[in-house]
Amino acid sequence: MENRICHCTVLDSTNAHCRRMAARGAPSGTVVIAERQTAGRGRMGRSFESPAGMGLYLSILWRPHCTPEQLLPLTALCAVAAVRTIRRVCGIDCAIKWPNDLVLHSKKIAGILTESVPDVTGMVDYVIVGIGINLRQRPGDFSPDVAAIATSLRQETGVTVDRDVLAAALIEELDTLYRDILPHPEQWLAEYRAGCLNLGKTVQVICPDGTRRRATALDIDERFSLTVQYPEGTVETLRSGEVSVRGLYGYAEQTL
Ligand code: BTN
Repeated sequence: MENRICHCTVLDSTNAHCRRMAARGAPSGTVVIAERQTAGRGRMGRSFESPAGMGLYLSILWRPHCTPEQLLPLTALCAVAAVRTIRRVCGIDCAIKWPNDLVLHSKKIAGILTESVPDVTGMVDYVIVGIGINLRQRPGDFSPDVAAIATSLRQETGVTVDRDVLAAALIEELDTLYRDILPHPEQWLAEYRAGCLNLGKTVQVICPDGTRRRATALDIDERFSLTVQYPEGTVETLRSGEVSVRGLYGYAEQTL
């Protein structure tokens, strides 16, 4: 796929900018990269700290001809694409905290935000995937709350990654995902399961209203939803847009 790349010094959010470009008719495959975001967005209404020169902040726009249901695995597949990218460029294996945070040494190294917009018939008009990877931050570069759960590739490995090399590799992996894997998402299911640090663990399920319930993470199903079992025995399937999970004692308990 041919990618048009829009590179900006500062944006509110690469996802928001991509959305504005999509509304003006930008083609599938358009990529937006910013040096810095002033209002970087995360899942569940959270923000994503995006200081200049510290990370890769990238969004890609696609126009698949499919139903919103068919996009359910997309967010998890993007996590696999990001893990593959970091492995290829840095030789480092990150774990995945369901559905799509990348984790190194029990702290968050990258986050992914997928936003899709329907057309008048209810089909997907376009979808935007935004990926933020922390590359160079030291603990003092994060706000105190974020420093407790986040880290950077340089902090954990001593490796200083060339952001543009990483971006080019990520765009290649995302193109493969969109072209070959999204129509057959089961191809990456085993890889996702193998990288998912929650499976078999006790987790806290966090609902949008802030309530938390303890559960055991049992499995990832073919839609990449997480099956959990609550202490009284009830089994529930969690979809990625609806809840988030944490480790029992902190952001993530990692054995990978
Ligand atoms: C999360 O951790 O909940 C998801 C974070 C996603 C951050 C990326 S950075 C590039 C793109 N633009 C945004 O505003 N958000 C995503």
